[in-house]
Amino acid sequence: MEGLNEQMDRLDKELDGLNATSAKEAEELRIHWLGRKGFITQLFESFRAVSPEEKRRLGKPLNELKNKTEEKIKKLKEQLEDANESEGFDVDPSRPVRPFHPSVRHPISQVMERITSIFQRVGFIRSEGPEMEDDWHNFTALNFPEEHPARDMQDTFFIDSEGPAMALRTHTSSVQIRSLEKYGAPLRILSPGRVFRNEAISSRSHCIFHQIEGLYVDKGVSFADLKQTLLFFARELFGPDARIRLRPSYFPFTEPSAEMDVWWGLETETDRRITKGTGWLEILGCGMVHPQVLRNVDVDPETYSGYAFGIGMERIAMLLYGVNDLRLFYENDLRFLEQFK
Ligand code: DAH
Repeated sequence: MEGLNEQMDRLDKELDGLNATSAKEAEELRIHWLGRKGFITQLFESFRAVSPEEKRRLGKPLNELKNKTEEKIKKLKEQLEDANESEGFDVDPSRPVRPFHPSVRHPISQVMERITSIFQRVGFIRSEGPEMEDDWHNFTALNFPEEHPARDMQDTFFIDSEGPAMALRTHTSSVQIRSLEKYGAPLRILSPGRVFRNEAISSRSHCIFHQIEGLYVDKGVSFADLKQTLLFFARELFGPDARIRLRPSYFPFTEPSAEMDVWWGLETETDRRITKGTGWLEILGCGMVHPQVLRNVDVDPETYSGYAFGIGMERIAMLLYGVNDLRLFYENDLRFLEQFK
């Protein structure tokens, strides 16, 4: 039979290899080793029966083995607790799975795609420009003269820099200039993107928002072309019965300039409120490209003419989805976003 000494050696080695993958396993190990009928307890029972000489020899190592076993099991338990904590939950495979969130396109992206695809069908090509702009592309080339009060129409975020004065673009109209400089005329582009204005954040305005700019320059482009294209756009977006009206307006880079309204209706209280009692809703600015803008990019206004328009995307998204607070688009609240599947 294995003597006490050999048993201790064997258990000592086995102890080094002990492992547990769950709290339950660790507790079972404790019972096997240190419980009332555990290995270590049995060793102490055998110890009582050995000769006084062996007691003297084995007493100390036996106590050490017991301490080592206690240490080892305590360590195993601690490791398992740490692992559970770092995972943030108890591993319990019988629990129901967590809700799975398949990705959803942001409503602003959805609107942007709808609008760009409408214009792409009639020959507009996407063209993008930088969000950080110089004064030339955002203002000067667009016929905003120095010190002209029109610059105050758009509160600008200027960027501190050592080099030339830079700002966050206040509108996507800057891409008209960039694209004409790059490609010249004729040109037909659509440019969606983010724009920035130093404005107080409220349910109706934000300091970051999105526009889609359109520009068409060619020989003989007329206001009638502009109006027909915008009517086509409104009917594709809001349905075949959509009605539009153009109101005279002012932008430095177009002449004549207009703002376009769509007929919203006056049936409900909400209709009355959002259209301020008129039944019409403004959705974009537009006009014939100012001859000076063409000259600024070396396009001859005697040969070419063009139209341009700028659509506010948040406005359209609010109308299409019945959202009454613009800020919801930027909060990234899943409960809001998940409705746009
Ligand atoms: N850039 C103008 C704005 O941000 C919108 C606009 C008006 C764009 C008329 C145009 C335009 O292209 O022709 O308020």
